Amino acid sequence: MTSLEAHGLSKRFGDRVAVHDVSFSLGRGEVLAIIGPNGAGKTTLLSMLAGGLEPSEGELKLPPAGGIGWVPQQTAVYSKLSVAENLRLFARLEGVADAGAAVDRMLEQTGLRARAGDEVGRLSGGNRQRVNIAIGLISEPAVLLLDEPTSALDPRQRARLWEFINDRVLAGTSVAFATHDIAEAERYAGAVLVLADGEMLFAGSPAGLGAAEHENDLERAFVAFLAERGH
Ligand SMILES: Nc1ncnc2c1ncn2[C@@H]1O[C@H](COP(=O)(O)OP(=O)(O)OP(=O)(O)O)[C@@H](O)[C@H]1O
Ligand SMILES: [Mg+2]
Repeated sequence: MTSLEAHGLSKRFGDRVAVHDVSFSLGRGEVLAIIGPNGAGKTTLLSMLAGGLEPSEGELKLPPAGGIGWVPQQTAVYSKLSVAENLRLFARLEGVADAGAAVDRMLEQTGLRARAGDEVGRLSGGNRQRVNIAIGLISEPAVLLLDEPTSALDPRQRARLWEFINDRVLAGTSVAFATHDIAEAERYAGAVLVLADGEMLFAGSPAGLGAAEHENDLERAFVAFLAERGH
């Protein structure tokens, strides 16, 4: 069962083509990593999937309203409000029927209950990112989209965050995330989508990038893959 499908998706800003002719599908409980150099179009692609940006061309099949959770790279939380206040605010903005229950559930799932009353601005980067992700998940979306979710986290926080995301995946949530961390893509994603200058160069299992020919070093294989294609 597919949760999300993109067919021939393109986005132009003036005469700059940020994303060109991207097609893929994401099944229930699947995890897709979107990798590619700076300016490749990862954020633009995710923003279109999240519904925040209108595609110039192409078609999107998305879950029904409220079915997509979006975790942007820049946290959208209010630093002067507490963790619980932020969650309640976003639950209301998302039109969640029982905001109190949703806040309670997210405090439990993220392990943030002890921090519920703390101002978000005073939290560590890792805990702030947990709040950010809790907000993306507050409407129990079928699809979770994350833009470089772990770039500011230390290895332990990163592992904890992935434990949390993987729990959601086991419950059936589909995940697409952008990352510059190739090891993270290999470890957590069943499929990778490679973008460079807006073009989709590859979509498939990470093994297809040829790590076997580079001493199983996917990062080196990825750099070689891009170089061979002129990027
Ligand atoms: N609102 C905008 N107006 C004009 N150009 C834009 C806009 N947003 C993005 N672009 C351009 O589209 C291209 C893709 O940008 P995007 O932010 O999607 O890349 P990215 O892969 O997320 O890069 P990074 O790894 O640096 O986050 C870039 O050339 C960027 O300058
Ligand atoms: Mg980006």
